[in-house]
Amino acid sequence: MKRRQAIKISSLGAIGFSASINTGCVNNAFSFDHGVASGDPTEERVILWTRVTPKKVGTVQVVLEVSEKENFSEIVFKKKLHTSSLIDYTIKYDFEASKYCKSHQGFFYRFKAGNVFSEVGKSKTFSADTKSVKIGIFSCSNFPAGYFNAYAAAAKDNLDVWLHLGDYLYEYPMGGYATSIAEKLGRTPVPPHEMIRLADYRQRHAQYKLDAGSKELHKNTPLIAVWDDHEFTNDAWKRGAENHSMDGSEGDFFARRSAAIKAYFEWMPIREQDSKRKIFREFKIGSVLHLLMLDTRQYGRDKQIQPLEYLTNSGFNQAKFYNDLNDSNRNLLGPSQISWIENAVTKTKSEWTIFGQQVLMTKLKFPDISNAFKKIPDELKPYIQLIKLGLPSNLDAWDGYPKDRERLYKIMQRLDKKFISLAGDTHNAWLSELYDEIGNKVGIEIGTPSVTSPGLTDYIPIDVEIFEDSIVKKNSELFWMDASNRGFTSIEISKKQIVTKYNFIKTIYEKNSSIKEFKEFKIAKNYEIEA
Ligand SMILES: [Fe+2]
Repeated sequence: MKRRQAIKISSLGAIGFSASINTGCVNNAFSFDHGVASGDPTEERVILWTRVTPKKVGTVQVVLEVSEKENFSEIVFKKKLHTSSLIDYTIKYDFEASKYCKSHQGFFYRFKAGNVFSEVGKSKTFSADTKSVKIGIFSCSNFPAGYFNAYAAAAKDNLDVWLHLGDYLYEYPMGGYATSIAEKLGRTPVPPHEMIRLADYRQRHAQYKLDAGSKELHKNTPLIAVWDDHEFTNDAWKRGAENHSMDGSEGDFFARRSAAIKAYFEWMPIREQDSKRKIFREFKIGSVLHLLMLDTRQYGRDKQIQPLEYLTNSGFNQAKFYNDLNDSNRNLLGPSQISWIENAVTKTKSEWTIFGQQVLMTKLKFPDISNAFKKIPDELKPYIQLIKLGLPSNLDAWDGYPKDRERLYKIMQRLDKKFISLAGDTHNAWLSELYDEIGNKVGIEIGTPSVTSPGLTDYIPIDVEIFEDSIVKKNSELFWMDASNRGFTSIEISKKQIVTKYNFIKTIYEKNSSIKEFKEFKIAKNYEIEA
C-alpha cells in the first residue's frame, strides 16, 4: 500500500470514527422520523424545523439545504446546525428567504444528518403585493380520538398557510378524555399517563408529529400556531388550571407550565420572542390582510367563573354571579395585550383585520335540551339547571369575560375597523355576526370544527338538525352552525371578499382524506354574509 493511500484510508477511518459519534457517517445512525415543518412566514423569513432521532446520545450536526428546485439541482443556501438532548434533538432555523430565493413562489428545504436526508419540505414567504391568500384554519387535534384526516385533506387544498388555533395536542392519559377508541385505532397516548413533566410533553409532541396527515400538511404548508389550554392542561388560566391538582401531587403549576412551553417551542415551528410566555404576534400579508394571533389562554387570563359554585340550597345566586361575571377587572387578554392590539391595528392600513385566537367570541346560550333525553344523565343535571336559567353556555370562552370583550370591541369601533375573529375550542363549526353592548355590528366570527375531538352531538343524544336549528334561533348573533362534523375551514381572502369554506371530512376512524361535504359562505366588504 502506498503511503499516500494509507494516509487517505486512515484519515477516512478517523473521520468515520468521529462521525459515528458526531455527524454519523454510518448509515442509519440517524433518522428523521417526525418529518419536517415550517412556520411563521413573513415577507422576509420563515422558520424551518425538523427533529433528528439519533442512535447515540450527544451533539448532532445537521445540515440544512434550501433549493428553488425540487430535485435540489441548485442549492441556494446551506447551513450547519447543531442539536442535542437539551432541545430534544429538534432543529429550528429562522431562514431569511428574501435574501436567497428569487421570488415568493416558494422553495424546498431538507435536512441531512450523517448520510441520511429528511423528507423534502416546501415553504414560502408572503409577497408585499399579494392580491389574495388562502388560509386553512384548524383546532383541537386529539390523537387518540382519531386520524388527522383533516390535515391530510388540507395538504391537497393549495393553502398558502395554515393556522392552528390551539389544542394541537391533549394532555390526558389513556383511559381519560376521548380515548375510548384509541386502542382499536392503535393510537393510545404516549406516555400513557397525563403529561405533567418535560419528558411527558416532549413524548406527546413526538407522538403527534408521527401522524401521517400531520406530516403531510407540515411538509407542504407553513403553519402559524397559537396554543390553547390542552398544550398545557385543561382550562388553564394565568396562575392555574382545572386539570392541575393544587394539592402538590402534580407539582408546581408554574413548573408544569414552563415544561409545556419548553416542549412547545422545541416541537413547533414558531418564532420565539424575548419572553417565551408571549406568543401574541402579527403578520402582514400584502395590503390585503393584517393577521393578529392572540393569546386568550395563559398570558393575561383570570380564573374562570364556576357557575356551579353559585348553586346553593336556596337556588342559584344570580346577583352574585352577574356581579362577578361583569367585574371590569376580569381579563381574558390582559392590559398589555390589549394595548399591543390597539397599537398594531392603528399602524396598519390593510383591507381586512383578522384575529386568530382560541375561544368563541360569539355570545352563546344553549337551548333547553332536557326534552332531548329519555333520561337525563346525573352528571348533566346541574348543567341543564344552568341552561334553564339562561346563563351563557361556556364561561371558559369570551362569554366568561364580557368586559374584556367589550374593551376589544370599543377599540376596534374607535379605530373604525371591523374585524374577523377566528376561533377554535368548541369542536363545532360556527358563523356569527358580532355586536357590541349598544348594538353596533363590530365584525364576523368564523368558528372552526375540531380535527378529531368529539363535538356536541357526540355527547348529547339529540336530532342534529333540530339541535342546530334551535341553537341558531336561540342566539341572535348566530348565523349558522354545524354540530356533528369534524374537519377544517379554509378562507380565501381578497380585497373584495372572504370566501369561507367549512370542509367536513368523511371519517376519523380510518386513514381517509376525503371531504364528505362542505358549506360555503361569502363575507362581503361591508361585512354582510351571503350563504
Ligand atoms: Fe379542544
